Order: sequence, then structure tokens, then C-alpha cells
Amino acid sequence: MVWGMRWEMEWGIRGPGGVAVFPLMLLVLSGLAGARGGVWDLRSLSCSFRTYCECDFRPDLEGLECDLALHLAGQPLARQLVTKAVRDFVQDPAPSKPLVLSFHGWTGTGKSYVSSLLVRYLFQEGMRSPHVHYFSPIVHFPHPDRIDLYKEDLKGWIQGNLTACGRSLFLFDEMDKMHPGLIDVLRPFLGPSWVLFGTNYRKAIFIFISNAGGEQINQLALEYWRLRKDREEIRLQDLEPAISKAVLDNPRHGFWQSGILEEQLIDLLVPFLPLRRHHVRHCVANELAQQGLEPLEPTIEAVVDSITYFPEEEKLFSSNGCKTVASRIPFFM
Ligand SMILES: Nc1ncnc2c1ncn2[C@@H]1O[C@H](COP(=O)(O)OP(=O)(O)OP(=O)(O)O)[C@@H](O)[C@H]1O
Ligand SMILES: *[C@@H]1O[C@H](CO)[C@@H](O)[C@H](O)[C@H]1NC(C)=O
Ligand SMILES: [Mg+2]
Repeated sequence: MVWGMRWEMEWGIRGPGGVAVFPLMLLVLSGLAGARGGVWDLRSLSCSFRTYCECDFRPDLEGLECDLALHLAGQPLARQLVTKAVRDFVQDPAPSKPLVLSFHGWTGTGKSYVSSLLVRYLFQEGMRSPHVHYFSPIVHFPHPDRIDLYKEDLKGWIQGNLTACGRSLFLFDEMDKMHPGLIDVLRPFLGPSWVLFGTNYRKAIFIFISNAGGEQINQLALEYWRLRKDREEIRLQDLEPAISKAVLDNPRHGFWQSGILEEQLIDLLVPFLPLRRHHVRHCVANELAQQGLEPLEPTIEAVVDSITYFPEEEKLFSSNGCKTVASRIPFFM
């Protein structure tokens, strides 16, 4: 596939076919590349006209933005930050460094959800893409005494996979349970200066996820509410220092003493705000629609009511965001 694309580009730009042959060649070749099980894939077709399609990297930015606008509840800041960062990065044919995002926030606020949408709209095969790599400390690095082995493995995997495809995505979940020291091996891959063995490491995407900073984010959202200020007005600058501090002060966080945050290898900290009742409603409606069920008002209301909210006094924010929504629905049907 990669060769097909390259060949096609050579033809298109410098080939002897000239202007007349070029569009036809493009159509035929991208059709070949896009034909999967007899279905002609429109995304592959449109891909031929762009420079950033590699491996199965097929960014559909409109699709991503539309899905986020329709389905992501209560995260205007995260939505805007992520879409802008991804758009800028994806449209740059020669990025100066990999895109490195770090998601922060309370449980169930949409960090994994947004990551999964990114994967779905950036890679043709989504989570099944051979170029999307998911790491969780409990699953992949469970034994603290094997840390040196894990370090070797991880470094080799990143290097190997980036050599195979520069447009790879690496997702590190539960960074606040990631054994400190392990993530240090990523440092060389996150900066601008690494073009090794002819491999361009600057086209990769890294996403780190943790709850670090969640309490601080919740606190600010609560202050805004108490001051009757619109949470839509919360800006990144209002939260960035508190999140950084929460990460740097946490010896159990994977970034602990790694220098990754200090050296500004993270392009963007993305705060996820705590969800309110009407956001939980939105999640219930999404879930019902997804399951093909009718959005009956009593059902929605019952699910929203069954969730606990904090702080004790005002009962503003869902204590586990929308995390338990899907599993609660059957009890209220
Ligand atoms: N802001 C949101 N908008 C719409 N749906 C959401 C939102 N947040 C959570 N959900 C729903 O709840 C489910 C659980 O959320 P998700 O896994 O993204 O939480 P998380 O932030 O990763 O939490 P944790 O820190 O516990 O991993 C999602 O799969 C999604 O269906
Ligand atoms: C790519 O990463 C996976 C882990 O996600 C690993 O199993 C595999 O060996 C890596 N491939 C290479 C070529 O290093
Ligand atoms: Mg998660």
C-alpha cells in the first residue's frame, strides 16, 4: 500500500503520463488501494490528493469534528483544543516534532472516549489498526521488578513501529499508575531532533491519559459555578499551572522526574471538566441512540437520578462522570 502510494505520487508529480494520464492513474490506483472486500472506500480516494496519507492513516477531520460536536458532552475546552491541535498537525506534511497530548480530568469525563474517536477518525482500521498502540500499566507493565525489561521492550516497540510507519499513534492510559522511570525511555521520541536510520519520528502522535489534576480542575469548575460564571469561559491558562503542578508533585505519575513536562515535550495539556446533570443526560441519550433504543424521558430521568453528585452540599458534578451510564440503562428500561 505504501509503495502504491509512493509510486502514484511519483507518477502524479514527475511521471511521463502528464496531465491527461494523471487523474485517471490516480483514480485507478487509489481505487486499488481503497478497495476492501469489494467496497470502494471514499476516504482512500480523497486521500490521493493529500500528502499526509501513509500506512492506514486516513484523517477525516470533518467527521471527527462533527462527531465531537454531536456527542461529546460538556467539554468545550477539550474539544476546541484537541481539534485545533490535530488539524494543525495532520495538515502539516513535515511536522517539526511529534504531536504529544496529555489528557487530564476526573473519572468518566471523556478522556478515553475522545481518544477512541481520534483513533477512529484518523486510522482506517481504527483500534484494529496495526499502527495504533495502546499501553496500560496493569495490562502491559504489571511487575515493578521487571521494569528494566519493560524499558527495553517499550523502546524497541516504539522504534520498530515508527520505522514501519511514521504515522503511528501511541496511547498511554493510566499514566498515574505507570511505574516512574519507564516513560523516560520515550523522551528521545517526543522531541524535534530525532531522525534516525532515515526514519522520520516527527509524524507520530502520542497521547497520555491520567486523572492527575482532576481535583484542581473540579475545584475551578466549582468556583466558576459559585461565582455564577459560565464554564465555557474556562481557559487553558486558568488550569495549566495547576495541572502541571499536580503531575510534577505526584511520585506515582509516569512523568515523575522524567523531564518530559519540564522540557516542554508535551504540546498540549487537555483538561476535562467535571460533568453536570444535563451532561449526564446527554450521555444517556447518546447511549440509548447507539443501542437503537427510544430516548424515553422517564428512562433518561431515572438514570440521571440514580447517579451520585458532589460536593455533598450542592450536588453539582457526577462523581464518576458518564462512566456507569451504559451499565445502568438496562435497570431503568
Ligand atoms: N464528556 C462526555 N461526553 C459524552 N460521553 C461521555 C463523556 N464522558 C464520558 N462519556 C461516556 O462514558 C464512557 C466512559 O468515559 P471515559 O472512558 O471516556 O472516561 P475517562 O475520562 O477515560 O475516565 P477514567 O479516568 O476513569 O479512565 C465513555 O465511553 C462515553 O460513552
Ligand atoms: C509494535 O508494537 C507492538 C506493541 O504494541 C509490539 O508487540 C510489536 O513488536 C512492535 N513492532 C515492532 C516492529 O517493533
Ligand atoms: Mg479512561
